[in-house]
Formats: sequence, structure tokens, C-alpha cells
Amino acid sequence: MNKFIIAGNWKMNMNANAGEALAESINSKLNEKKFIITENIKENIRIIVCPPFVTIPTVANKLNSLNNTIYLGAQNCYYEPKGAFTGEVSIEMLKSAGCEYTIIGHSERRSIFGENDELINKKLLALLANNMLPILCIGELLEERQSGYTFNVLERQLDNCLKGVNKEQIVDIVIAYEPVWAIGTGISATANEIVEAHDWLRNYFIKHYGAQGENVFLLYGGSLNDANASEIFAIENVNGGLIGGASLDADKFTSIVISASQLL
Ligand code: PGA
Repeated sequence: MNKFIIAGNWKMNMNANAGEALAESINSKLNEKKFIITENIKENIRIIVCPPFVTIPTVANKLNSLNNTIYLGAQNCYYEPKGAFTGEVSIEMLKSAGCEYTIIGHSERRSIFGENDELINKKLLALLANNMLPILCIGELLEERQSGYTFNVLERQLDNCLKGVNKEQIVDIVIAYEPVWAIGTGISATANEIVEAHDWLRNYFIKHYGAQGENVFLLYGGSLNDANASEIFAIENVNGGLIGGASLDADKFTSIVISASQLL
């Protein structure tokens, strides 16, 4: 039985009103497709939306008022529990606002905000300690791929970001493989490139975590949309997607979810 996670990363888009309307629209479109009431689908596809921090409570209230099966995630967090960290948001704050997932290590956080593997590792360990599920993003730059270093980069990112994680904890971590050159460009990796990367990732997790490594969710991200979702989700070691641009359009996001449901 395939299981999928379909996560929408709204990035810095949608104010509270727009976010509320988007969440409502996704929910009603899924309902129209009888998505919510089909138990098999409900149990086997986890849908997550990750709004900007400040709009999370509004989106959470809206989702709670509806008959929905959509989970909430944040796009970032800080690892300290509280204190003099101007501009940062703690994991406990995100939990109390209704988040069950937090994206960490996104390439935009790495490249624009200078986050490195060591910081991402601290965030990851803090998330696990607080029973929040991390969505850890990894991926190579175009130059790294072109010079044949893709797997060295992935290995370094995983070794560093997962330091201190044990076999029991590994299944709580969702991995999003996002080749940086495919993010927001409209050009996703090819099916062959995704097969190769996800097979490598599966082997990495089995090698380091034994049988538990079989159960780690491996999402693909990078220009995933309603036109390519079916092909990408059909790949053996792809367990869903992290979607940016297409997650801001209720029709496209719903259609991506439906593509996964057709593979159950
Ligand atoms: P994209 O973004 O779908 O717009 O390429 C994906 C991501 O950054 O997670």
C-alpha cells in the first residue's frame, strides 16, 4: 500500500484573509471530490499546508471550523525554548498555534538567510524533543550537479543535519529532496533524475538506520505541479511532495492530491 504526504509550502505569500480563503477552498474542493469522506484516502494521504507564521492561527481556526483532514505546518522555527532572540519563533509557540510539522533547511533559508547544517541539526533535534515532526529539506545546486557532486552534497547534508538522531526517531522525520535548480523555475527534475536520487536516499537510510530506513517518507520538491504529479508520485521511492508555487492555487493543489489518491 502506498502512503503519501502532500505538503504545501506557501512561503511569504497570502495574508491572513487570503490564507483563510485558500484553506477553505482547498477543503471544499477536496470535499467535492469526495476526498474527505473516503476513509482509505484519509488514512493514507496526509495533506499539510504551511502558511507564514503570522497567519497560522487564522488558517488553523478556519480549518478547525470545517470538516477537514488538513494538517498545519510552519516554514521555520528556532531551537531555543524562549528568551532574547528577536524575530524568532519557538517550537512551543508553533505547537500552541496548531502546527504538527515544521519545515527546516529549505534552500531559501540556506541561501538567503545563511543557515548551515549545524544550525539545522539543532533545530531538528529540538523539534524531535518537542514532539514536532520535522520536514528536512536537502538538495544540490546546479553547479554541484553539473560537477557530479550531487550525492556527496546529499550525504554531507544528511550526515550533518541528522547528527544525534537514533533509529526510533528517524521515522518521525520527513525528508524533502529538492534540487535547488528545480525550485520555482518551472523545470522539475526528470523522472530519471528523481528515480536515481530517491533510490540513493532510500539506500542511505537503510544503510544508516536499518529496517527503519525503509519507512522514512521521501518527498520530492521543485516545480512539482498538477501536470507532473502523477508521473513523479508513481516513482517507487517517492512518497509525496513538497509544493511551493502550485500549492497557492486550490485547483492545482487539489489536483496534486487527487493524483496521489489514484495511486493508492
Ligand atoms: P516550487 O517550490 O514548487 O515553487 O518549485 C518548492 C519548494 O520550494 O518547496
